Amino acid sequence: MQKKILEILTSAEDYVSGQSISEQLGISRQAVWKGINSLKERGYDIKSLQNRGYKLVSPPEHMDQCMLENLLVNNKIIGKNMIVLDSVGSTNDYLKQLGSDGCSNGTVVTTREQVSGKGRLGRVWQSKRDENIAFSVLLRPHMTPSEVTAITPLAGLAVCKALRDFTGLDCMIKWPNDIVVGRKKIVGILTEMSAEFDAVEYTVTGIGINVDQAVFPEEIAYKATSVLLETGRHFDKNKLLACVLEHLEAEFLSNNLELTPTALAEYSDMCISIGKSVTFQRGTRRISGMAVGVENDGELKIMLSDGTICNVNSGEVTVQGIY
Ligand code: BTN
Repeated sequence: MQKKILEILTSAEDYVSGQSISEQLGISRQAVWKGINSLKERGYDIKSLQNRGYKLVSPPEHMDQCMLENLLVNNKIIGKNMIVLDSVGSTNDYLKQLGSDGCSNGTVVTTREQVSGKGRLGRVWQSKRDENIAFSVLLRPHMTPSEVTAITPLAGLAVCKALRDFTGLDCMIKWPNDIVVGRKKIVGILTEMSAEFDAVEYTVTGIGINVDQAVFPEEIAYKATSVLLETGRHFDKNKLLACVLEHLEAEFLSNNLELTPTALAEYSDMCISIGKSVTFQRGTRRISGMAVGVENDGELKIMLSDGTICNVNSGEVTVQGIY
């Protein structure tokens, strides 16, 4: 009911009377009043004036289920089942549990805070309350484990396009799946999966977007940035997440979860690693070369000093001048 009341208040430019809301929804005035109070308790700033009714002044700044559901009307799969938590260890871990319990393809979990957020390579991902966007998306592709390699680059492409559209920032992709602005990281992506030998049960792609951080811990400050630090502005996190989820659905569906020639060309155009000197680890050796392209399975092609080509599929690749 709160969602329906919110829909009415959001589409109205001025006050809407309690009578009108009760007629539109076929509920009592008492139920309207209760719904409005619940919305206020959830952080919606709603003005009430005698004889005029209710007006939405501003939505909450934090992640909110009603807002997200109302914003996501055009998505058919991603976020159709949307779960918004107050606090969680890690959205990836939470969604993996739901995945094992049978939740639907496209389920999204987001939260106001993560208390043990995970990064790649066993690192910690900080998600303080209401400071950033942390969410995970579950997919159930009919593929083998070796065929799902496109999900992460497609997710990177979608987030990069969404951030460009929504904030105007000149974001780029640092292979394989960091989104950077200038020399600093603004988004991290971590995909995990549950699979049998020949079939994937589900994948969970977790995405952390630095939105409102004004400062970072000293040890990562040289390589981390946020939308606030780059633009000097606070963006609506619900609208930004909805925009990212729309882009994710578009990339996943139009490319059928594959790195199609179109997706690969777009990814390569936005990939800051290509054409740069890079260093990576192979066993105990540290190897340097020039990144020359991305293969259609997502691997980074690196030309070594003797002209041979070496493909890298995971781990950390340091890009000269970045991190
Ligand atoms: C990285 O760049 O190291 C990956 C960071 C991934 C962070 C996101 S936040 C939402 C989801 N839940 C987690 O615990 N991690 C991912």
